[in-house]
Amino acid sequence: MTVTRVARLTEADWRVFAVVRLQALTDSLGPTDPQYRREASFTAAQWRRRLREHAAFTVLVDDRPMGLISAQHQSADSVYLYSLWLAPDARGHGLAGELLEAAVQWARSRQVHTVTLRVAPDNSVARGIYEKAGFRVAAATVGPRQELAMSLSV
Ligand SMILES: CC(C)(COP(=O)(O)OP(=O)(O)OC[C@H]1O[C@@H](n2cnc3c(N)ncnc32)[C@H](O)[C@@H]1OP(=O)(O)O)[C@@H](O)C(=O)NCCC(=O)NCCS
Repeated sequence: MTVTRVARLTEADWRVFAVVRLQALTDSLGPTDPQYRREASFTAAQWRRRLREHAAFTVLVDDRPMGLISAQHQSADSVYLYSLWLAPDARGHGLAGELLEAAVQWARSRQVHTVTLRVAPDNSVARGIYEKAGFRVAAATVGPRQELAMSLSV
């Protein structure tokens, strides 16, 4: 029997966070992407600071971290979610929805009114997950990657 659970990563988990975050960046952007290269050179102190300043959640499958989502305050009233990712082996079991739910719950606990995120227009799987959770497209083509901005009122 497989046991899955979502857990918030604390500063003490920085090594786990670094490994999963770099897996996600390599898988999504490739090892030559500037963002991957920048974070691959993070020190322990930088990983720890990221976990202090942002809320990061992983999904554990039989105690193995297999995915990630992060959240940060955008303003006093708004939280931005980023980096929803699942290891390819863990996809197709609804775990992305569980990660998303944990991050949205965290936003609610921070008493903000809006949760936002960005998604590539052609990423229909991710977009479907966000829409199922109640997110709606707020603006088209944001930033250099021409992503859709989505938001949820909480
Ligand atoms: C996006 C991601 C986290 C989704 O995780 P997943 O485990 O693949 O998602 P699921 O299998 O739970 O599928 C979610 C839903 O999408 C549906 N789906 C699958 N393929 C689809 C497609 N091509 N188009 C539309 N919906 C699709 C599934 O049926 C499922 O719907 P359901 O919950 O109603 O059954 C994962 O694919 C991933 O890590 N991708 C790479 C990183 C990424 O794109 N992150 C998002 C950045 S914004």
